[in-house]
Formats: sequence, structure tokens, C-alpha cells
Amino acid sequence: MNKKIKWGIAGLGNIAKKFASDLNLVPEAQLVAVASSDIHRAESFKRDFNVDRCYGSYEDLFDDPEVVVVYVAGLNNHHKTVVLAAIAKGKAVLCEKPLGLNSGEIKQMIAAAYNNHCFLMEALWSRFNPAIQKAKQWADEGVLGQVKFLYSEFSFYKMDADPTHRLMDLNKGGGALYDIGIYPIFLAYLILGMPEKISAQSQLGPTGVDVQTSMIFQYKNAQAVLYCGITNNSSNEAKICGTEAEIVLPGRWHDTEFITLIRNDEVSTTNLPTVGVGYTHEINEVNQCIAQSLTESSLWSNQNALELALLIEKVRDISGIKN
Ligand SMILES: NC(=O)c1ccc[n+]([C@@H]2O[C@H](COP(=O)([O-])OP(=O)(O)OC[C@H]3O[C@@H](n4cnc5c(N)ncnc54)[C@H](OP(=O)(O)O)[C@@H]3O)[C@@H](O)[C@H]2O)c1
Repeated sequence: MNKKIKWGIAGLGNIAKKFASDLNLVPEAQLVAVASSDIHRAESFKRDFNVDRCYGSYEDLFDDPEVVVVYVAGLNNHHKTVVLAAIAKGKAVLCEKPLGLNSGEIKQMIAAAYNNHCFLMEALWSRFNPAIQKAKQWADEGVLGQVKFLYSEFSFYKMDADPTHRLMDLNKGGGALYDIGIYPIFLAYLILGMPEKISAQSQLGPTGVDVQTSMIFQYKNAQAVLYCGITNNSSNEAKICGTEAEIVLPGRWHDTEFITLIRNDEVSTTNLPTVGVGYTHEINEVNQCIAQSLTESSLWSNQNALELALLIEKVRDISGIKN
């Protein structure tokens, strides 16, 4: 790829900073413009990340003819509006996870991208992590035999957050399931597909969001045990166990650089380094898709994003989560 893909960012909060520092590590990408609802935030972001232009409105960013792809990094409850506005101006879009608050929103975004021939991808960055790619490859190639059991957790302590913090606020798409439950559910979906049956229980906190949720996904020949929470700092490990071997992804598994294969009492660990914080891998995927004029990624398609949302909705419905 000899031409740089020109990027813009809409919404300049915590994740946008990490993403921009990774974008600057990708030789085939150039961050040309950023936009925030607050022009002062946009100006300081422009200085910090050496960006050509900044705007005090997202619409101005979407009208910038040099911007080819927009990274949408605002709050969950704004993703749909911002994504639809970018697509209406013909921009390719990488949108933070979860792509939408529910499957209905995601269907709308997919239809808009299709009708406007625009690229669209949910920023499910773990899908592009080298160790997770390896786990998927080994599972698909039968290195594990038949996968019978998967365990995955993701939690951190955040009970001291202000009630207005996005994690604590139902209206901002808060709670453990919507913020981090997406990761263990993603791993089960990636390796085992759609389950036949789901059981789940949640505990709700003082602001009404779920502070922890435990799930069992039942497949024809396998089970997945999944957990997410903001009540404790767990080791955040994942395991994929088959009839012939087992994979361990050490904590924090969703951005790990290591993968361990245990087979016949033999334990071998492989180091698969990530570049930067780890967002470079999804950035490379988007660049390659755009360079090939594709409207979606084959590694994380919009159907994948939709099915993941359907699983989250199912867990939400049976566990009494109010989002
Ligand atoms: N992939 C990952 O590793 C990862 C990690 C954390 C979060 N995320 C996702 O990234 C997204 C943003 O998370 P974050 O932690 O970066 O959030 P954040 O810093 O709290 O806010 C991000 C941006 O959202 C807008 N915003 C914040 N509060 C708002 C409000 N009350 N009303 C309207 N707009 C508001 C602002 O955009 P302006 O600058 O335009 O004002 C802000 O800069 C979420 O979808 C989250 O799920 C992903």
C-alpha cells in the first residue's frame, strides 16, 4: 500500500487519545483532522497529536474532503447518530464498541453503509490481536480437538466512579455488560458461534446499571462460562479447552501478547507482540479494506457485530439489566 489513508476522529475523550497515538505508529495511516463538541479540546488534541486540522463540530469534519475514514469515539448512546451522519457524507467509518445500543440501531447503520457504499466496522480491536488470531486459527484447524469448554472473564474495580460517569449511567449505555461484557461474549462467539441457550444472572448497583453479570452459553457439544464486572480486579484470563489440548490466554486476555498451548502435559508459550497500545492491528485491517474498496471486513463483519449485539440483548433480557 503506497498511499496513506487519511483519517479523522469524532469525539476526543480517553480512548481517542490512545487510538491517535497508535494511528501515528501506522505508516499507511495519517491523522489529518479531528473534531470535538468543544473546540478547545479539539485544539489541544490537534497540538498533542500533530494533526493538520481541527473542528468544533462533527459535521465540519464530515465535510472535510480529505478525510476518507472517520473513527467514532464518542459515548455509546451517540454512536448511531454520529455514524449515520458520517456515512451520509460518504465517509468510511470505524466505530467504537458497541457499534450500537441495540440490534435495531446496528441494523440501521448497516443499511445506511450498504445504501451509501461506505465501509463500516465495529472497533472490536481484540479480533485483530495477534494472540487471539492464533487462538482462532488453532481452534479452527483442530489443534485442540473438539472444543468443549471456554472460560472468559473481564472485570475491573470501578465502584468508586461518580454516578454521572458513563459506566454508571444507564442513559449513556453504562454497566458491566455493555462496557466489558462484550469481550467475553465476543470470545465465545468467535470460537463457538451462536449458542443454543443462554443462562445469565446480574447484580444491579445503586444507579441501576449491572455491576456484575455471570453467563453460561450452551452449545450442542460445548459450554462457555463467561463473566464481567466492575466490582473487583480479577486476573482476566481466558481458556479454550478441547478434547486434545487447551489454550490459555493470560490476563488481560483481550489485549494479551502471549498464548499458551497445553497438550499431553507439554506446556508451550508463544510471544506474539502487539504494536503500540494494540489498536494498530484494527487500524491495519481498516486500511487494507479501504485500499481494496471493500465495504466491510471479513474478519469482523457487520453481521458479526449484529450477532454480538443480539447475544448481549439476550443476556440483558434474561438477567434483568435495564439498558
Ligand atoms: N476499545 C477500547 O479499548 C475501549 C476502551 C474504553 C472505551 N471504549 C469505548 O470508547 C467510547 C468512548 O469511551 P471514552 O472512555 O473515551 O469516553 P469519554 O472519554 O468519557 O468520552 C468520549 C467523548 O464522548 C463525548 N462525550 C462525553 N460525555 C458526553 C456527554 N455527557 N454528552 C455528550 N457527549 C459526551 C465527548 O466528545 P467531544 O470530544 O466531541 O465532546 C468525549 O470526548 C465508548 O463507546 C466506549 O465503549 C473502548
